[in-house]
Amino acid sequence: MRKIELLAQFHDREGFDCGSDPLNAFLKQTARQHAERGISRTFVLVDEDDTSGPKPILGFFSLNLCQLKTDVLAPEEAKRFPRAVPGVRLGRLAVAKERQRQGIGTTLLIGAMMKFMEIFNTAGGIGLFVDAKDHEAKRYYEQFGFVPLASNELELFLPVKSIAEALAHIG
Ligand SMILES: CC(C)(COP(=O)(O)OP(=O)(O)OC[C@H]1O[C@@H](n2cnc3c(N)ncnc32)[C@H](O)[C@@H]1OP(=O)(O)O)[C@@H](O)C(=O)NCCC(=O)NCCS
Repeated sequence: MRKIELLAQFHDREGFDCGSDPLNAFLKQTARQHAERGISRTFVLVDEDDTSGPKPILGFFSLNLCQLKTDVLAPEEAKRFPRAVPGVRLGRLAVAKERQRQGIGTTLLIGAMMKFMEIFNTAGGIGLFVDAKDHEAKRYYEQFGFVPLASNELELFLPVKSIAEALAHIG
C-alpha cells in the first residue's frame, strides 16, 4: 500500500531522479535541513510493502508558509481581503522518472491539499500557491483548478474553496 509520510533518514533520497537536477538536489541536499530549521516540510510517497533497505521515494512535495500581497489576486478575489494575507506554498512537486504519468503527481497534489486543510483548520491561510517551473508545469497545475496570479503568469493560486470542493468530490 502507498503512503505519504514526512521525509526521514530511512528514505532513499540518493536513488531519486525526477529528471530535474534542481528538484533532485533539493530532495537530496536541502529538504531535511529546511525541515529541521522550520523553513519547509517535505513529504514523500512510498510503497509500504517495500521493506528491502532504504525506502524508495516514488515522489515528493514540500510545503511552506507564505505571505502575499492581495493585489496579485484577481480583483473580485482581492476585495475580500486585507492588503496582505497568509497562504501555504507548494514549494516543490516531483515524481520519479520511471513512475511519471501513472497518477502519482495527482496523488501527491491531493496529499498537499489535505495538508493545507490541516493548516487552514489550525491557523488559516487563503489557499495554496505554487511557482510553476515552466509552461508545461503551469498547464499541469491548471488542470487541477490553479489560476495564474496577476504578478507572474508562472505563479498560480488554488483558493481554499476549490481545495475543499476537490477534497469533498474525492470523498
Ligand atoms: C509534473 C509531474 C509532477 C506530474 O506528475 P505525474 O505523476 O507524471 O502526473 P499524473 O500522472 O498525475 O498526470 C495526470 C495528468 O496530468 C497531465 N500531465 C502529466 N504530466 C504533465 C506535464 N508534465 N505537463 C502537463 N500535463 C501533464 C496529463 O493529462 C495526465 O493525465 P494522462 O497521463 O492520463 O494524460 C511529473 O511529471 C514530474 O515530476 N515532472 C518533473 C518535475 C516537474 O516538472 N515538477 C513540477 C514542478 S513546478
